[in-house]
Amino acid sequence: MLQPQFPIPDAEPIVIRGVVFDMDGVLTDTLEFHYQTWQRLADEENIPFDRKANEALRGLSRRDSLMAILGDRMLGEAIVEEMLDRKNRYFLEFIQTMTQDHLLPGVLDLLQELRSDGIRIAIASASQNVDLVTRQLGLTDWVDAITNVYNVPHPKPAPDVFLYAAEQIGLPPHQCIAIEDAESGVKAALDARMWVVGLGPQERVGAAHVILSNLNSVRWKDLLDKIQCCR
Ligand code: G6P
Ligand code: MG
Repeated sequence: MLQPQFPIPDAEPIVIRGVVFDMDGVLTDTLEFHYQTWQRLADEENIPFDRKANEALRGLSRRDSLMAILGDRMLGEAIVEEMLDRKNRYFLEFIQTMTQDHLLPGVLDLLQELRSDGIRIAIASASQNVDLVTRQLGLTDWVDAITNVYNVPHPKPAPDVFLYAAEQIGLPPHQCIAIEDAESGVKAALDARMWVVGLGPQERVGAAHVILSNLNSVRWKDLLDKIQCCR
């Protein structure tokens, strides 16, 4: 398994001035919405798909997800585009129903603490719907920058979206903590040389510097202590 990297030498104090959140699975749980919409598309196309297959798509871009579902089925670009659009149409129906009630437990409290501590906040997502979902969740005024993998050359697991988010909030990556729930996202943030908090089971986010099950009741000071202790 990928080992955590330590962004700055042992002797230097760790200074954190920014937090970069992944969105799906960290701020809100859209996994079920993605499952329902991929399942609908797969059923329409007679392609086998289930919840287990959906779990493997966590953190992947829409196109990479479709490629994984299609496996070795070779389809023309126009057909692929149509499927991506159709999947997103189904997904947008779910997004319209989202409100602040869809924030995961602990998120608002943590954002409040970050704000009062002067920490810059960004979202770095694989979702093309990140602006819309952020708005539905009532988070637009809470964040200093919103980026997604379509703003950069390479999607997660490449580090591009985290590097871009750090640039957007004007900080070097080693002064940022990334919070991620996907294996591909943890790899992306580690390769960006950020401090990484992984949310979920060891098998999925074990490479992160700090592993938590979720953000419920997580205090900013405790998180900073855990980061200081992890090297
Ligand atoms: C997130 C989810 C993925 C999803 C991707 C693209 O990172 O974890 O499961 O496929 O975003 O979302 P989009 O809204 O662009 O279809
Ligand atoms: Mg995620």
